[in-house]
Amino acid sequence: MAVTGAGLEGIVAAESRICYIDGDAGILSYQGYNIHTLAEKATFEEVIYLLWYGRLPKQTELDQLKAALVANREIPAEVTAFLKSAGQAGPMDVLRTAVSMLSLYDKEAKDNSIEASEKKAVKLMAQTPTIVTTFDRLRNGKAVVPGDPGLGLAANFLYTLTGKRPDDVMERAFDVALILHADHELNASTFAARVVAATLSDIYSAATAGVAALKGPLHGGANEDVIKMLLEAGSADKALDMVKNRLANKIKIPGFGHRVYHTTDPRATHLKALSEEIGKRTGHVDLYLTSKQIEQYMKESKNLNANVDFYSASTYYSLGIPIDLFTPIFAVSRMSGWTAHVLEQYRNNRLIRPRADYTGLPVGQPWVEISAR
Ligand code: COA
Repeated sequence: MAVTGAGLEGIVAAESRICYIDGDAGILSYQGYNIHTLAEKATFEEVIYLLWYGRLPKQTELDQLKAALVANREIPAEVTAFLKSAGQAGPMDVLRTAVSMLSLYDKEAKDNSIEASEKKAVKLMAQTPTIVTTFDRLRNGKAVVPGDPGLGLAANFLYTLTGKRPDDVMERAFDVALILHADHELNASTFAARVVAATLSDIYSAATAGVAALKGPLHGGANEDVIKMLLEAGSADKALDMVKNRLANKIKIPGFGHRVYHTTDPRATHLKALSEEIGKRTGHVDLYLTSKQIEQYMKESKNLNANVDFYSASTYYSLGIPIDLFTPIFAVSRMSGWTAHVLEQYRNNRLIRPRADYTGLPVGQPWVEISAR
């Protein structure tokens, strides 16, 4: 059998209307809308609608979606009890288990129709942020902050996390970060979600697989590694020494390189601007300046570009978000893409079942009794 590239590199594994990427030209668009336009003009809720239904919502449709997201924010008491019991467990492990738990308390869990799956997508989208912020409050011994129905998803996330309503600039920065992370074609976690959906398993199971795949440091986990590197270095000079040292020891630098982009990741352009703007406001501009120097060095020495995780790290840190919530926040955003892809898979399903190139022992090995091995 022909070998078609380790890691399925360059393999087309599905037809999809949701996301277009040109990795050489650095173009990303959701349902035909360029990411730069969406980062400038859209709200995250509009992007959710766009990803799910393939067009921009009219005002009434957007209002309905926003109302549904607010109405479905509350998580089942059993999930809150689990979050309480989770103590100091890793937030991505907790999120994976909690997302999976949601299905146990959904009366429609077993109904795999498109209509029921769309309703479940709303619940997943509304409750994932609640899981993340509730867990953070509980693990820090703080009272859970009930959501404010007057706030959109981004503002409500920051409010229920910190207990303070964000100002317009902080809210917009976080909203844009959510837009930028919302979808990215067949990235590892979305592919995992589609593989599960293609067996006609339910959307909660598919979303759980998405969270599980996102957790890894080669995927969503990279943003946490970036900030740890920046903080450990402490200064731009030390950071550059650290980077050089790591490269000399063949250790990858988190936040650089990409399977698809061979030029600037268009999402990084916006996150870089946000990192500077929010950094200046909150006294963390040094992180932005250090990041800029590392970016320049990586480009000159290795011709590697910053990816979405590089500047999101300093942006989230400047927004006051705890480091181990960076990847869960990626999940909050990517839940929109996962659910959109799962719905698309259901609408035109075929089991995803590739083949492996066999590299084992010659077939037909003689059986050896255990006493003779
Ligand atoms: N730092 C240093 N070198 C890197 C690098 C990085 N972050 N990313 C890629 N490279 C180098 C590799 O060492 C390899 O060099 P070689 O051919 O001399 O061995 C080459 O670039 C290709 O890398 P490879 O790991 O094979 O590419 P991939 O397509 O399999 O991996 C990533 C893509 C994203 C997994 C990879 O770039 C990476 O591990 N980046 C760091 C983690 C990260 O930021 N992940 C978030 C992605 S959005």
